[in-house]
Amino acid sequence: MKHPDFSGTLRDQADDGAGTCPFTTRAAAEDSLAASGRQAWRNAARCIGRLHWQSLRVVEARGLRQPDEIFEALGRHLELATNHGRIVPMMTVFAADAEAGDPIRIWNHQLIRYAGYRSADGAVTGDPMNCELTEVAMALGWCPPAERGRFDLLPVIIQAGGRLRYYEWPRGAVMEVPLRHPEHPWFERLGLRWYAVPALSDRVFLTDAEAYPCAPFNGWYMGTEIGARNLADEARYHQLPVVAEKLGLDMRRSRSLWKDRALLVLNEAVIWSFEREGVTLVDHHQASREFMRFCQREEGQGREVSADWSWIVPPMSGSTTPVFHRKYEHREERPDFRVQVPPWKTPAGRELLERHRA
Ligand code: ARG
Repeated sequence: MKHPDFSGTLRDQADDGAGTCPFTTRAAAEDSLAASGRQAWRNAARCIGRLHWQSLRVVEARGLRQPDEIFEALGRHLELATNHGRIVPMMTVFAADAEAGDPIRIWNHQLIRYAGYRSADGAVTGDPMNCELTEVAMALGWCPPAERGRFDLLPVIIQAGGRLRYYEWPRGAVMEVPLRHPEHPWFERLGLRWYAVPALSDRVFLTDAEAYPCAPFNGWYMGTEIGARNLADEARYHQLPVVAEKLGLDMRRSRSLWKDRALLVLNEAVIWSFEREGVTLVDHHQASREFMRFCQREEGQGREVSADWSWIVPPMSGSTTPVFHRKYEHREERPDFRVQVPPWKTPAGRELLERHRA
């Protein structure tokens, strides 16, 4: 896979105006930002992958103000995080509200997402979860490919300095994995695929002192996120009936467990395909074991883990994993990553959108 050149290091850009500041102070500020970022991951109540919290790489980009330079930083983030498939958990932190004057926001839920096109009869081509964002992108002037597909990459929509811009990923910037199954040659012909790096971009990163509304971060996928939710949910790609049909299962009776069998095959395909392409992905059994280790470690350090059972337990074979068989305390803590209202649902965001409508 080839990566485009996102030249210029972020640190150089972020250094603007810091000339009077002794290096040690700046270094200390970056260290504390990185420490807060790692703690936010450690506190993420819905995340099963927290054993690795100390490996989070935090990039300081608080000096950037222009949509163009912000997108360049996102390109750099994606390239470093993708790391040719050996995914690096990473967060890039842009200016806090207080610093930027005008909020910096990424309107996408994740840096990489597939378009969802709703037709007049209500049917959706692509990912139904992203229909609204797709409409926003088109309102800003984004043109979908001439032939609309199920896996069209959406542009990144960036709000900064009172402006709203969309950016398409350059060719080759986004690593994707075509899905195949080791035992079923027909699987490949379903044309399913998924992207390598899950990078949440709509959360606010809260430290003790600041709120950073734009601080995209990524880990690597757990297979079931793709195989048991994104491609399987009825409100997403809804592929279980398609797979079951190919398997020749009896779909008239739920007791044939056709859904369960199709789910298994879909998840085998996800794990096998990512592994074959050399892209980091964890299966739900390993992730669960790692989470138990994380809990033990935290408790050993005198910290009680805060977790949301319904998010921690994997969406398939829950009871076969150790995380199912216990309870968790669930508290709100800081530092943290919290949900924000989608910008197009706020009066300020709607006004911004109207001003930038193509
Ligand atoms: N569940 C989301 C998705 O399927 C991604 C959430 C973050 N996941 C992660 N492994 N860091 O796209």
